[in-house]
Amino acid sequence: MIVLVGSEKGGTGKTTIATNLAAMRAQEGFDVLLLDTDLQGSATYWCRTRDDAKVAPAVFCAQKFGRIDDEAAKLTRKFDDIIIDSGGRDSEEIRSSMLVADRVYIPISPSQFDLWSLTPMAAMVKKAAVLNPKMRACILLNRASTNPSVTEAEEAREVIGQLNGLEMSSAMLRDRIAFRRAVRDGLSVVEMKQKDAKAVDEIQTLYQEIYHGQK
Ligand SMILES: Nc1ncnc2c1ncn2[C@@H]1O[C@H](COP(=O)(O)OP(=O)(O)O)[C@@H](O)[C@H]1O
Ligand SMILES: [Mg+2]
Repeated sequence: MIVLVGSEKGGTGKTTIATNLAAMRAQEGFDVLLLDTDLQGSATYWCRTRDDAKVAPAVFCAQKFGRIDDEAAKLTRKFDDIIIDSGGRDSEEIRSSMLVADRVYIPISPSQFDLWSLTPMAAMVKKAAVLNPKMRACILLNRASTNPSVTEAEEAREVIGQLNGLEMSSAMLRDRIAFRRAVRDGLSVVEMKQKDAKAVDEIQTLYQEIYHGQK
């Protein structure tokens, strides 16, 4: 399966989500390729850190820029799973990845500015869906407040419910230090020595939704 983690906005959690999913997929015994299509190369740094720390299982990582579709389609013969991490802008990388992706996850924070950024993303998905009708595109709320009195996430769900062509993931990640620490150390939150049970639970809900079709 090809999963694209993409959005037109930087800093929404694409690399955090892509790296966590890649490590979890590898842990389940699948040959997974993390395809880094962002010039900033954060996913590549994560892989290097993981290799240097000799974390098992290893996660293969490759960088690819420009058109992604042909190469990604070829790579599905070699790998069980491909997870594409994109840069935070409208790019050839995102648009071409959408031509071959089975799933697109669009992480956003539940703030109004991020919600506005969804309109061009929805248009991009709609265009790609003509050529790739099997693709399912989901919005994923990330960095939601852990403060129960902040209702932004619930409000965001209501606004997003009205957007055309985009589904809403039943998973939601909250703003947790564990997500920052795991990425720094080349890990997923499920591999940390001192685990944050809530972070683990949140990412597992997402993982199950993608790979085991659980809602
Ligand atoms: N759920 C989260 N909780 C805490 N920090 C997060 C979370 N998601 C992302 N971050 C942090 O936010 C920053 C941007 O995330 P990143 O994954 O690099 O975004 P992107 O790849 O979209 O630019 C990083 O410092 C990352 O550690
Ligand atoms: Mg990134």
